[in-house]
Amino acid sequence: MEEKLLAAKQMLQKYGQEHLLNSFNSLSKEKQSNLLDEILTTNFKQMQELYETTKTKADFHNVKLEPIAHITKAELSAEELEKYTSLGENAIQSGKLAVVTMAGGQGTRLGHNGPKGTYDLGLDSHKSIFEILCDTMKEACEKYNVTIPWYFMTSDANNEDTIQFFKDHNYFGYPKEAISFFIQGKLPMIDTEGKILLDEDGTIKQAADGHGGIFEAMRKNGVIYDMKEKGIEWVYIGGVDNVLAKMVDPVLTGLAISQGTLMAGKSVVKANPHERVGVFCKKDNRPNVIEYTEISDELAESTDEKGELLYGESHILCNQFHLSALEQISQNKLPYHVAFKKASYLNEKGEVVNPTEPNAYKFEAFLFDAFSTVDEMSILRVKREEEFAPVKNAEGVDSPETARALYKAFYHIN
Ligand code: UD1
Repeated sequence: MEEKLLAAKQMLQKYGQEHLLNSFNSLSKEKQSNLLDEILTTNFKQMQELYETTKTKADFHNVKLEPIAHITKAELSAEELEKYTSLGENAIQSGKLAVVTMAGGQGTRLGHNGPKGTYDLGLDSHKSIFEILCDTMKEACEKYNVTIPWYFMTSDANNEDTIQFFKDHNYFGYPKEAISFFIQGKLPMIDTEGKILLDEDGTIKQAADGHGGIFEAMRKNGVIYDMKEKGIEWVYIGGVDNVLAKMVDPVLTGLAISQGTLMAGKSVVKANPHERVGVFCKKDNRPNVIEYTEISDELAESTDEKGELLYGESHILCNQFHLSALEQISQNKLPYHVAFKKASYLNEKGEVVNPTEPNAYKFEAFLFDAFSTVDEMSILRVKREEEFAPVKNAEGVDSPETARALYKAFYHIN
């Protein structure tokens, strides 16, 4: 322990993070050892670089932004629809599709205590979001007569609760052996001076590193390898919070096969310039998404000659990747975006502080930054009322109430 402590002290001194040992003496032996391990495995140089990025704002002036081409599903001719459907169905029926649901987020905005997927949507059936997604998957497996491997990305914070929930509900009738869980990565949080925060228990305050960490997490956890073994070619990756998500869609898969692209994504028409969704675009000639937290009013509001939003193709976090592309992306790190959040921490006196205003930076990689690793991507515009009912906020827009209404309308439930 003495040696470790010395090494940790040297490391902290080098990066001006000595405060991390302020409460060291009051910790149990086990916590002390955990903290030292954390310190010795933290990439302080990276944290220093990330802190520097908090001083700049996303700037799109020096990049070439353009709208991206898309195909509208409702406007496909009968022959086109048939062509894509049959290409996609072939792939699905021959076991080449896997589904990944990203469920590592904390769901803070929803105010639900537990993994978001465990939230009861408030239907008469009292189905949780996870059960609703299971229904969709079971229906697809039945329709295509195949068992689709289904992976859940969780985080340190909710992994155990998520697995327990599935066990308690007997996997909602989905074949248990086809479901697996893997944990995403995490990164320390820092304050406005670049100091790493201590958590209430005296260890380093870490937060999930965003869903862009999924590629690396899939590689490190052997998911990519597992998929290869199973002969998977296409991987749908989506969020946990859209109760109308159609994870198994032959048209999306068929479109990518037909267009010869390695990535495909679904879009819906943006409801208004300030809807809190990312929008698909081309950035320096490559596919990308401008996130709602980073788009300027000017860009969000700009329209074409027909008066339609220039950037109106909303990204609904329903994307599909060819396994070869996933494998390649997983070798590299995606850039991190900065979020300013409220985070409780231990101050230098060893007291827990619960801030009422944002006080800390969290760093998140976004899955869609991976889009720019390819030249072209297939975008399929679908109908909002058929495929997009997100549960994000406790009330108002994108709340359980709006998602429930959309869900009931789609399934004709009174
Ligand atoms: C997200 C998209 C946005 C899109 C919108 C559609 C991002 C950054 N933005 O916004 O472009 O228009 O959905 O509904 O995703 N998650 C993890 N680990 C993490 C963070 C998130 O698994 O570290 C999962 C969440 O559990 C959730 C999904 O990713 O399933 C979306 O995350 P969230 O942070 O809620 O994104 P939004 O702000 O809603």
